[in-house]
Amino acid sequence: MNDVGLVGLGVMGGNLALNIRDKGYDVVIYNRTRDVIDRFVAEHKDKGFIPANSIQEMVERLKPPRKILLMVTAGRAVDSLIEGIVPHLNKGDVVADLGNSHFKDTVRRFRELSQYGVNYLGVGVSGGEKGALLGPSIMVGGSREGWDLLRELFSKIAAKSFDGTPCAAWVGEDGAGHYVKMVHNAIEYVLMELLAESYHLMRRAGVENEDIAKVFSKLNNGRLKSYLLEISVEVMQRRDDKGKGYLIDNILDSAEQKGTGRWAAESCLELGVPSFSFAVAAMDRSMSAMKELRTRASEIEPERKNMNPPDPNVIVNLIDPALTGAALCAYAQGFSLLEVAAKEYEWSMELSEIARIWQGGCIIRSELLKEIRESLMSEVRGSILIDPKLHGVLNESDSSWRKLVNAAITSGIPVPGFASTMAYRDSLFTARLPANLIQALRDYFGAHTYKRTDIEGVFHTDWSVRG
Ligand code: 6PG
Repeated sequence: MNDVGLVGLGVMGGNLALNIRDKGYDVVIYNRTRDVIDRFVAEHKDKGFIPANSIQEMVERLKPPRKILLMVTAGRAVDSLIEGIVPHLNKGDVVADLGNSHFKDTVRRFRELSQYGVNYLGVGVSGGEKGALLGPSIMVGGSREGWDLLRELFSKIAAKSFDGTPCAAWVGEDGAGHYVKMVHNAIEYVLMELLAESYHLMRRAGVENEDIAKVFSKLNNGRLKSYLLEISVEVMQRRDDKGKGYLIDNILDSAEQKGTGRWAAESCLELGVPSFSFAVAAMDRSMSAMKELRTRASEIEPERKNMNPPDPNVIVNLIDPALTGAALCAYAQGFSLLEVAAKEYEWSMELSEIARIWQGGCIIRSELLKEIRESLMSEVRGSILIDPKLHGVLNESDSSWRKLVNAAITSGIPVPGFASTMAYRDSLFTARLPANLIQALRDYFGAHTYKRTDIEGVFHTDWSVRG
């Protein structure tokens, strides 16, 4: 009898299997295509993986309570797998979906499996292929009993946070794990958007790729030290082995997306949480994908190419503070969204724990998460940006960030990430926004009523009568 079953031997699943095996667990592996299993076993002959010919065989080879990990493409594949597994399970067994499933699917599956007494977990796993092999960040949601059964395994295969503890934690009931992963990915989208805009500004200011790499590398030695900066340095330096010059110059400027960033923006709209940057980062990928239309439109404005290029020395000096402030706001929007979602979906979520397990293994790991975690531990509510220490960081970046956005706009260089994040920051710190006019207009054309600043109640004005 063996410790754990793993279904799905794609790159992520295969690497997770290797990671788990490396920690001493017996792993029974199954994949829909038999060839894939045979190839995997042959490639890792010395590891002692146990191949199964069917789901049933995999389940039968496991010690009770059985632990089954699913690492397959999110969507229908997860449902059909679960359908195939359930008849072979007993009460108390645990099934964990480690893919990027939508949290609402996870809530539904959690409820369905709870009826059979099966412990269902929706688990966010971040770190890409390398992380899966060497130590990812693991965001577990769902059955507490299921977490107790897999806690040791997840803790052993996970990365380590700054204090040396494993980057694996139970973050809340039913769909909470996948929700947290979705928010992780939304932050990931914003951070990448900000890096891409920084690169664009520097490039348009005439800074060479190697020098941009140096700027990123310098940033990576300071407060902004992070995985995404680290790999940005490598990307900027990579020479093209299929063409001339640097690889980055030959990559199409049209980014794809699988959905998690969009889901986060949708959830913001649904819950009424104004995370401007999440929506913009997802939408700018869509803008990038409209390559043909952008190319045609750009031909109408050929003069744009030479429009006041920004001063390279100015831009290079502004990037560090501007990125620091904007990146902090990206995390802040994520934690604000989590706070509201936890209340709405009744998840007992510890935000400071999430900041801890994002410190290692995941794509958004960064030094900033140390200060963010401290702020979240101090019970700050609503936004980490009002925490005096983090507000100090924001203030330090303020004037450079504004100058950067100004320079970009003057030069006609789009910076939707920096600009929308600045708008978020400014709106948050403005006690009186102009929504009074919106209220008045709604009342004018639709008698939607409005509230007043000085008298309780709901009011309507007959705007056709001149006051
Ligand atoms: C991670 C990544 C991972 C995946 C993204 C890519 O945390 O390891 O986020 O889950 O690379 O989902 O998402 P897009 O294809 O939408 O950019």
